[in-house]
Amino acid sequence: MSDILTHTDAGVMTITFNRLDKKNSITAAMYAAMADAVAQAAADPAVRVVVFQGHESIFSAGNDIGDFLNQPPTTQESPVFRFLRGIATFEKPLIAAVAGPAVGIGTTMLFHCDLVYAGDNAAFSMPFVNLGLCPEAASSLLAPRMFGYHRAAEALLMGEPFFAEAAQEVGLVNRVVPPTEVNGYAQAQARKLAAKPLTSLIATKRLMKGGDQQAVLQKMDEEGRDFGRMLREPAAKEAFGAFMEKRKPDFSKL
Ligand code: COA
Repeated sequence: MSDILTHTDAGVMTITFNRLDKKNSITAAMYAAMADAVAQAAADPAVRVVVFQGHESIFSAGNDIGDFLNQPPTTQESPVFRFLRGIATFEKPLIAAVAGPAVGIGTTMLFHCDLVYAGDNAAFSMPFVNLGLCPEAASSLLAPRMFGYHRAAEALLMGEPFFAEAAQEVGLVNRVVPPTEVNGYAQAQARKLAAKPLTSLIATKRLMKGGDQQAVLQKMDEEGRDFGRMLREPAAKEAFGAFMEKRKPDFSKL
């Protein structure tokens, strides 16, 4: 079965991470499938809302680390950037249902969702520094803005997980429910939205986002350039090597 499942019903497109044996980590092929699904959802008048969901035990372990090494994103047309631009510019409502770990892009993609529901086992983390990398998905702009600078600095510099209640407190999460209920709750909310006039949903989202889109896309480009360069540098090589060899990284000389 495919690693990304897409299903549309009653105006709601649901995109499901389906790679449980690798903790729903995301390969270039999965980004490409999600970018295509999001583009299709944008173009299809029958789709009014998109929901991202994982499993009750894990949302996503972020980018597939082996894939990072074998086919790092090099151009703006790389699947990961296509996916990120797709969600950052998506006009209709985006909802995420998050249970268990949401690592790296598993967390940063949530800045581009309009509603986020979390299981009480959700653990959000942006461990870019610990991987010798830098933030992506405009999280270096959107996390300080949403959390406040010091809380964002803690999340982005320390890279440690923060949990559902803290995520709700900083405004990343709308509501916390039991993990077995999070996907169902998100679906129910999506169906409520899908029954509303799409023209009003789109206008309201556009008005709330204001003229922000250009700044977000610009920050993504800026981050993307640093990220691409840092992927090839010694700190990231050491971090990824350590992950593959199941040992602690040694940054003492970097
Ligand atoms: N890329 C590739 N493989 C990954 C992965 C990733 N991001 N995350 C997990 N996996 C794989 C593991 O290598 C392991 O594979 P194996 O069974 O062939 O050895 C399998 O998924 C299970 O992972 P494991 O670490 O044993 O699960 P866990 O429940 O103990 O921990 C996580 C879950 C998500 C906390 C942990 O896997 C993790 O921290 N992953 C890395 C996250 C990361 O740094 N992502 C990059 C962000 S930019």
